[in-house]
Amino acid sequence: MPPEIIKGLKDVYLDTTTSSFIDGQEGKLLYRGYNIHDLAEKSTFEEVIYLLFYGNLPTKQELQEFDDLLRANRRLPDEVIQVLDLVKASHPMDALRTGVSALAAFDPEVTDNSTEATIRKGIRLSAMGPTIVAAHHRLRQGLEPVAPNPDLNHAGNFLYMLFNEMPEQETIDLLDVDFILHAEHGANASAFGARVAASTLSDLHSAVTTGIGVLKGPWHGGAAEEVMKMALDIGQPENAAEYCRNILDNGGRIMGFGHRVYKAEDPRARHLRERSRALGEKKGQPNWFKILTYVEDEVMVPYRSRGIFVNVDFFAGSIYYLLEIPDDLFISIFALGRIPGWTLQCVEQFEDNMLIRPLLEYVGEMDKEFVPLEERG
Ligand code: CMC
Repeated sequence: MPPEIIKGLKDVYLDTTTSSFIDGQEGKLLYRGYNIHDLAEKSTFEEVIYLLFYGNLPTKQELQEFDDLLRANRRLPDEVIQVLDLVKASHPMDALRTGVSALAAFDPEVTDNSTEATIRKGIRLSAMGPTIVAAHHRLRQGLEPVAPNPDLNHAGNFLYMLFNEMPEQETIDLLDVDFILHAEHGANASAFGARVAASTLSDLHSAVTTGIGVLKGPWHGGAAEEVMKMALDIGQPENAAEYCRNILDNGGRIMGFGHRVYKAEDPRARHLRERSRALGEKKGQPNWFKILTYVEDEVMVPYRSRGIFVNVDFFAGSIYYLLEIPDDLFISIFALGRIPGWTLQCVEQFEDNMLIRPLLEYVGEMDKEFVPLEERG
């Protein structure tokens, strides 16, 4: 009897979690029991990191102390800046992966996988992640990295370090919501990768490095960048139908649509749709939103009956573009939002660990005769 093979581990439950709940049929997402709609509209990314790490929303004082801790941990060791300088020609995700990996050399608790130490490391990585991305972006332009500004919140400080100017409050709030929406999402591919690393009793730095590597692909974190490239290629709403038909008729996919778990609209998309529209109007560039809505409301309508709707990445790219964030930084922003989620998944894995080690059915040849090298011609 051949074994049952579940390609892509589709619909396989790996373990239990208290991190996030996803109802793919209803399009519902909860972090630690709280609806993503409430968190996106009423909380901050700092509150959400606290919620993920400690399981409850902070009081004002707890939030103040936690935020102080995040702000105090933003600086990178000089050696890590030097490493980023050495890899300045690389893609920002490669630089982030390298930066996180290099931070392991300077973290005094790197090998401590207790819950407390893993959360402390998660706080440090969450705080330093934006500094890595911003410093690398400056270095690759031949500019000096900008030191973190403790007067700004997490999202604001990232924008400040990236552009070396004070961001507008509206821009800070946009990025804050974007970080919240990306913070945690169950056994997605990158969290699974992080869990596999944790399950060998490796450490959080290895797991987050793994997560970043897995996230990089266009079928996971890379879709936002691809969506905006598509919108730029389409150019005008009236070109959208033909452009998309060409892709779909040739067996291609429209980026920013479809999801392994959601068979209804991804609940995260709604918060970016309206913000993409409003930002486009504000910046005098309403066309991008028109193109995207044409693709959503005209071209992809027949796909709805197959459970293919927009996902979180569909409108994210247009927001980053309108904020003048270079397109190769889009995935890194997703990664910065996801560091708390990866951390929590590792905490859960460490707390009740079993080595993740599935099987592969061997379908190659068997028992072949070994021919010594000198006899192989
Ligand atoms: N455009 C057109 N057809 C699609 C799309 C799409 N975006 N997504 C899935 N399909 C079709 C696919 O071609 C297949 O058709 P058929 O049954 O005829 O072969 C069917 O839907 C099922 O696809 P699948 O690949 O078996 O489904 P999956 O659950 O493995 O795919 C996915 C999930 C995200 C990889 C896929 O929907 C996709 O490639 N989407 C585009 C990339 C994207 O937007 N990724 C971001 C995901 S959300 C952010 C994150 O959490 O990573």
